[in-house]
Order: sequence, then structure tokens, then C-alpha cells
Amino acid sequence: MKRLRPHQRHDGVVVVGAGLAGLTAALASSPAKVLVLTGAPLNQGCSSAWAQGGLAAALADDDGPELHAADTVAAGAGLVDADMALLLASEGPAAVRALADLGAPFDRAADGGFAQSLEAAHSRARVARVKGDQAGREIMNAVTVAAMAARHIEVRTNARLQALLQDAEGRVRGVIAEIAGEPTEIVARAVVLATGGIGGLYAETTTPAELVGDGLGLAAMAGALIGDPEFVQFHPTAIDIGRDPAPLATEALRGEGAVLVNAAGERFMGRYHEKAELAPRDVVARAIHAERTAGRGAFLDAREAVGAHFPEEFPGVFAACLGGGIDPRTQAIPVAPACHYHMGGIVTDADGRTSLEGLFAAGECASTGVHGANRLASNSLLEAAVFGARAGRAAAAQADAGSHPQRGTVPPTLPPEALQQLRKLMSQHAGVVRDAQGLANLLAVIQAMEAAHGRSAALVAARLVVACALARTESRGGHFRADGEAGSEPRRTFVRLADVDAPAGALRFAAE
Ligand code: SIN
Repeated sequence: MKRLRPHQRHDGVVVVGAGLAGLTAALASSPAKVLVLTGAPLNQGCSSAWAQGGLAAALADDDGPELHAADTVAAGAGLVDADMALLLASEGPAAVRALADLGAPFDRAADGGFAQSLEAAHSRARVARVKGDQAGREIMNAVTVAAMAARHIEVRTNARLQALLQDAEGRVRGVIAEIAGEPTEIVARAVVLATGGIGGLYAETTTPAELVGDGLGLAAMAGALIGDPEFVQFHPTAIDIGRDPAPLATEALRGEGAVLVNAAGERFMGRYHEKAELAPRDVVARAIHAERTAGRGAFLDAREAVGAHFPEEFPGVFAACLGGGIDPRTQAIPVAPACHYHMGGIVTDADGRTSLEGLFAAGECASTGVHGANRLASNSLLEAAVFGARAGRAAAAQADAGSHPQRGTVPPTLPPEALQQLRKLMSQHAGVVRDAQGLANLLAVIQAMEAAHGRSAALVAARLVVACALARTESRGGHFRADGEAGSEPRRTFVRLADVDAPAGALRFAAE
């Protein structure tokens, strides 16, 4: 006999995910009640806490939101929604000040203003940082303390999202979550997905490996519109010391003057781009990939630029290097590209509303249109803060549909061995350099895995990335096709699961 799931009614908003977007949404929902569901203990298992750079925001006198938005648009290779980018940049300074007010100890200049770092493709030094490379951890500490103190927020850890509950009209009415091992139906007024990215679908990633695109996959299975899933950002300088996930060597090191060299000690970036080490992130990732593939190796040499100052200026990178037997004061750091950020996601408007009534999304799992084909460095924590707050406010204002949830099927989970196989193949064929043959083969593997293990949310997320990468025959931003055709008119991808639900060769895409 089928066991009935425990059933709860929550008189407010359910937020899934406790990274910066999730907790910001929860805080902004006040006075509505919020239930936050998170698999890991607070401040663990989320990419936000691992961020090193900081928040990009036009805080300096020689900067402004228009300039920040223009850099964001330029980095995004033709696919950024310019209005959304301007909104993000305009709300950036207030978002940084709000985090500082919560207690995030941003580094300060001599005049008391925010100290700001230069990162690639920014025309100003505009990244507000914390203790060198500790932005993510310190900001999340402050936000976590605030969320725990907030009376309207209840947090359930050890809670894993399994499905979205929908009514007969497809409205999202809540979630099914495994809470302390028990599948539980929770009916709520609104659901905010802040489930992070898809780094765990790749063998080399800088994000927590448990992030396998569950939110994206489940939203797609519920019928939500998905945007730009083929665009995955590979950070050029993951530290290559055999760790999974790989620790990051922040881009701010190159902003400080660290250089990229191959095993022969030759600086190679000049061969790839006029801006050398400060070229856009996708260009640097491909250059490092090319040097490594050619057997020349790639290393980040910060001995002159940082040297003895490593322990106080970049304590996180320093500790990670020492843990791998590298002393970055005296040795160059071995680096390799690794999956770092998903530009694509669940399509939302400026207030986090998805195409499904009752469902909101914020942070990396959302597609607001601000990142286009290539996210500008340090725009991700900013996006989480700005759009997390907007989504929280909108979700709190959502009227209860009052209808009965009818649908909510829990999909299977991909077995660990199959996930490991998928991760390797994703890195190989849907990674820094892609081609039609590799992507088609990978899609066939995903198809076979679905047949063998059932359709899991992770396989759906992988299918979205791979099918849309196959369909986009040009190279653009983070999506590089070795067999790429000449770029055409810039066109975003908007798909539903049904559009990619066919073997390679029979894919059809709806224009939205
Ligand atoms: C970094 O510090 O290099 C990462 C910043 C980002 O991903 O935006």
C-alpha cells in the first residue's frame, strides 16, 4: 500500500535554498511568514559562501550605474537584457550598503568608503570585497545571523526539495520535500526557488558538488519557461590540486597583477587577447584550456604581485594552496578551468516571477537576463542580493490561490555511479569547448540514463544544457563551439522541457 506523505499547510512563503538569494528573499518577505528549506546546515552547501571576489557595485565617484550596466552588457556578448542590467546596477550600491548594515565587514578605504578591487572586463575598480577573498563567507555569516534572528523566518535544515505541488491549472501550490528522511507535502501561498546552479553536473567545479540543478530540473518538469540553459561559465583559475570541488583562485589576483604562465614560464595570454590576463573570463578559460590541451600546462604566478602578503590579502586562496602542497608566495599555482556559474535558468521578471503562477526564482537558478552569454565578474552575489529581495517582496504579496494541489510526482534520484559518469561526460563534451558530435553523443547518454534510471531532475537539467548547446551552432560568450558557424543576430534561448524532449536531431525550439 502507498504510504501517505505527512501534509503541512504553511501560511506564507516557502523558500528553497539558503544561499544569499534565498536568505535575502526570506528577510525581504517580512512580515509574511517564511519557511526556508535547505539540505545543508546554514552557511554550508551554497556557492554564495564560497564566493571570493565580492559584489560589483558603482560606489565610487568616478563610477555610475550606467557604466556598470554598460560593462555588464558588453561582457554578455549580445544577449543581456539592457533594462534588467540597468536595474541591477542601479540597485547595486543600496544592496551593498544593506549588507554592510547587517554587519558584513566590507574592506574600507582610508576615507571610510568601500575599498574596491578591479576584476576582468570591468572598466572601473568596483568590486566591494571583504578581508581580501572572504566576501562570500563573511557576507553569508552576517545574513545568516539576521535570518536566524528574524521572527518571521523558520529554517528547516536536512530538507531536500523533491517536487513542486501544482493545482489543476498548473499553479504552484507548494513543494514536496524530504525532511529528515520523511517525504512531506507543504502547501504554501508562494514558493521561491533559490536552489543555486549546476556545478555538480561537471567533474571539475568550483561550487558545492551537491548542486546538480534540482530546482531548474523540477521547475522545467512542472512546465516553467527556461532561458539560455546552454550558457555555462567556466572559471579560468580553479586551483588544480586534485580536489573535488576545486578551490578557486579569485580573479582579483589577476586584478592585482598576477600573471598566467605555462610550464616553460612563458606568459601566454598576450597570444590570445589584447587585454592579456584581464581579458573576459571565457577568453581566459579557453586560453588555459588550450595551453593544457597542448601539454604546456597553466599556472597563476602571483609571486611578484602578492608574494609575502598572501596570508593577509588572500587568506582563502593561501590556505587552499598550502592544503595542496603549494606555497603561492614562492611557487606558481597550477590552474585549470572549472564549471563556476550557470547563466541560464528559470525565466523570471524583475520581481522573480516565473511563468508559473505561485512560483518565484532568484539567484543562480533564475534567468533574469542580466548575464547574457557571459556573466561579468562579481555580478552574481549582487544579483542574488538585488533580485532575491525583489522576489521575496513579490512572493510575500502573492495571494493564496486557495486551490487544491493535485500534481506532485517525486522523480527518481540519479544513482551516484551514473552521476559520476555524467559529470565526466559533461566536462568533456559540454565544457569549455564543445562540438556537435560530442554534444549529440552526450544527449544519447542522457537519454539512455533516463531509460535506465528514470527521469531525475539532474538529468533534466543536463538535458536542457546539452540540447540547447547542440542547437546553438554559433559560438557566443561562454558557449564555444569548435565547429561553430558564423555568429548570427543575437538571440536568447527560451525553451520548455517539451522542446528538448527528443533525441538529438529531432529537437524543436519554440520562439517565445
Ligand atoms: C572570483 O573571485 O574570481 C569569482 C568572482 C565571480 O565569480 O564573480
